[in-house]
Amino acid sequence: MTYSASWRSPSNIALIKYWGKHGLQLPRNPSLSFTLSACNTEMRMEVTTSSSPSLEVRYEGTPKPSFEPKIKTLLEKVGDRFPWISQARIIIDSRNTFPHGAGIASSASAMSALALCLCDIDDQISGSPADLNKGWWQNVSEIARLGSGSACRSVYPGAAIWGYSTEIGESSDLYALPWQQHLADIYKEYRDTILIISAAEKSVSSTAGHQLMSGHPYADVRYAEAGRNLIRLTEAMAVDNAQDLFISIVESEALQLHALMMSGHSPFILIEPATISVIRHIWTFRRETGIPVCFTLDAGPNVHLLYPSKHESSVMSWVNETLRPFCVDGRYIVDHVGEGPEKIS
Ligand code: DP6
Repeated sequence: MTYSASWRSPSNIALIKYWGKHGLQLPRNPSLSFTLSACNTEMRMEVTTSSSPSLEVRYEGTPKPSFEPKIKTLLEKVGDRFPWISQARIIIDSRNTFPHGAGIASSASAMSALALCLCDIDDQISGSPADLNKGWWQNVSEIARLGSGSACRSVYPGAAIWGYSTEIGESSDLYALPWQQHLADIYKEYRDTILIISAAEKSVSSTAGHQLMSGHPYADVRYAEAGRNLIRLTEAMAVDNAQDLFISIVESEALQLHALMMSGHSPFILIEPATISVIRHIWTFRRETGIPVCFTLDAGPNVHLLYPSKHESSVMSWVNETLRPFCVDGRYIVDHVGEGPEKIS
């Protein structure tokens, strides 16, 4: 018997950062992200029952053995939930809509797409038509988390919270919660223009970065601060007139992430001089125009410019004139808060 599933799943950008983990990919602090749209992974999984199990991983139709270890690790972790994995020939083919080598991490979109394909095929094998209810999405989120922590937040439209907080009912370290319903309208259409400052491979992976948080001198202070920032940010994002607070928390979170990298026992730096120049330009532009554009940073030098959709044309003119020269080959990606994963027929 052969089963197949195809899903498109987006990347996400954290506003409250997950940095530090323990156990089976459990976060040290809760995080909150915007789900993106243009940056996504399309994945097709084909499963054929077989007495000689195998795994073939392709990227755009071509074998891609370098993707295998991360996928294998996830398949091993979920072997108990999906016993058919050990009796199947599995072929996985994917493509990313964002350019390769743009310094954009694909693990959130890829691991959430993989979790979706696995759950979809599991429904087919068990013969129960999928009822894509809250529990189904929670399960997908939990499986995505096992692949890559931040991936568990990619399964919901708009925004998601992952990690237990005493003040957020139903929050859990195991899976993310949908958060779009708690956002003021302005945030449901936020824009994210991703300035590609460097396309080089990261010198320190996120996984290694998380590990460096154990024994970090500021770890406990940071985890407590992230918890407080989460609550302050959810309050700021519930209304449309607290954008100054939104901006100060988001930018502080981005800079704290990089300050943690620079202040551990094995310090490292992922931002580039151009990252700092761009940040200074953002602050000047905001002060001079009053347009509430702000930035956040991933674990890398690229700058995510966040702003309300109504300012798109002014911001993009300024990006082209002033910020583009800081981008490698003048590259940026225009993205926005998106609708979450989609099944591809
Ligand atoms: C800085 O989710 O990529 O982007 O769980 O080891 O796969 P693993 O790490 P990953 O870490 C993301 C870190 C971050 C912040 C965030 O997305 O919250």
